[in-house]
Amino acid sequence: MDDMRGRITKEGIRIYEDADFAGMREAGRIAALILDDVGPLVQPGVTTAEIDDFIRDEVARRGAASATIGYKGYQHASCISVNHVVCHGIPGAKKLADGDIANIDVTVVVKGWFGDTSRMYVAGTAPIKAQRLIEVTHEGLMRGIAAVKPGNTFGDIGHAIQSFVEANRMSVVRDFCGHGLGRVFHAPPNVLHYGRAGTGAVLEEGMFFTIEPMVNLGRPETKVLADDWTAVTRDKSLSAQYEHSIGVTAVGCEIFTLSPGGKFFKP
Ligand code: MF3
Ligand code: CO
Ligand code: CO
Repeated sequence: MDDMRGRITKEGIRIYEDADFAGMREAGRIAALILDDVGPLVQPGVTTAEIDDFIRDEVARRGAASATIGYKGYQHASCISVNHVVCHGIPGAKKLADGDIANIDVTVVVKGWFGDTSRMYVAGTAPIKAQRLIEVTHEGLMRGIAAVKPGNTFGDIGHAIQSFVEANRMSVVRDFCGHGLGRVFHAPPNVLHYGRAGTGAVLEEGMFFTIEPMVNLGRPETKVLADDWTAVTRDKSLSAQYEHSIGVTAVGCEIFTLSPGGKFFKP
């Protein structure tokens, strides 16, 4: 039904056209390639600023632009969120230590299309409980993605993630969510990583959005530090996150940010 494409739903969600998938595929692939390439750098002793410098150069080398540099005053090509940092960690002079876990989140713009993805990395060897957190967060994201098909709802996605995470005695962060994207970085809807099956907007072919659950070993509450960006767990427990950009297809979804090197879960 061609006349149903290129429109906005009553919830304000844009329905993209078939041809738009190609643009998202290219942007997503470049973001994922950069996260593939950053893996070997993440070692004890490296600073998060050094990792960000590498990412900034890679974005340019691949002919893309950074979506985060200049975004609401943010000045870096990535967010690097270490240990109890939930998201929006600012790259800086602190060195990673053996056993640190870090989420690296990159968003690029390619020919006007946004590719947004993040993964977990480990410096050296992480404690078992941190490894479990990483596994549960990754599996939570993949279960959320498995709930994506036309006719299901955004609540089905949140429910799939929350029920799995809580069955593993971990908690889903409520204060940050996924988002629509496409020719813009952040658009409706808010994609909640918790919720009730059958609630929320109905998924339609042509919707583009991220799913990016943040999972804590302890309680879900967060606070933002005085730098106005860094979000941390209030109880100082470890936090992890994985993010894919996806598009709803006639039968399910396409993941735009799949790792070309198969390194999404294990860098
Ligand atoms: N990439 C983040 C997201 O998943 C947003 C980062 S905005 C920044 O939506 F300014 F902090 F970089
Ligand atoms: Co995002
Ligand atoms: Co992101």
